[in-house]
Amino acid sequence: MEDECDYLFKAVLIGDSAVGKSNLLSRFARDEFRLDSKPTIGVEFAYRNIKVKDKLIKAQIWDTAGQERFRAITSSYYRGALGAMLVYDITRRPTFENLPKWIEELRHFGDPEIVIVLCGNKSDLACHGRQVDEREGRALAERERIWFMETSALANLNVEEAFLRMITQIH
Ligand code: GTP
Ligand code: MG
Repeated sequence: MEDECDYLFKAVLIGDSAVGKSNLLSRFARDEFRLDSKPTIGVEFAYRNIKVKDKLIKAQIWDTAGQERFRAITSSYYRGALGAMLVYDITRRPTFENLPKWIEELRHFGDPEIVIVLCGNKSDLACHGRQVDEREGRALAERERIWFMETSALANLNVEEAFLRMITQIH
């Protein structure tokens, strides 16, 4: 049965508005992408079952608004989360500059053992619109001792890899 899983993991998505959090999640959970997606209001969820070394893991992934005024209460959002995907947009430098703010929030509200994957999203636009070098993302991740990947929800690049990295590192 679908509900017979060995583990239930909660993970959260964070990062500035319009970096692509909701589309990364819909790509991972349902293989869907929308060019015209609307900003998230409050909190949404999606699930996906994943088999890791013979264990069936149910990943419950929470997605909230990047926009402050639409965000749900922060402490309840992070409660029980064992994984976090921190997302910026490689074509908008301010979303990268804001990462320390998100990391501070994560360190404040998140579990001390939380597994963090930093995603530089929209890598499909790298040739024309890149404002953040891949090396900068990697360097930040190394300083913070977190995982790093450039992703594209649109082109379906590294999306599966980024979520699986997060999920398989949780234990
Ligand atoms: P909030 O809910 O406001 O926090 O935004 P969000 O981070 O959930 O962003 P969302 O997924 O709604 O995407 C914002 C816009 O970026 C939409 O127009 C998406 O189609 C677009 N987008 C998301 N991911 C990608 C990507 O990988 N490449 C490109 N080119 N566009 C993307
Ligand atoms: Mg959203």
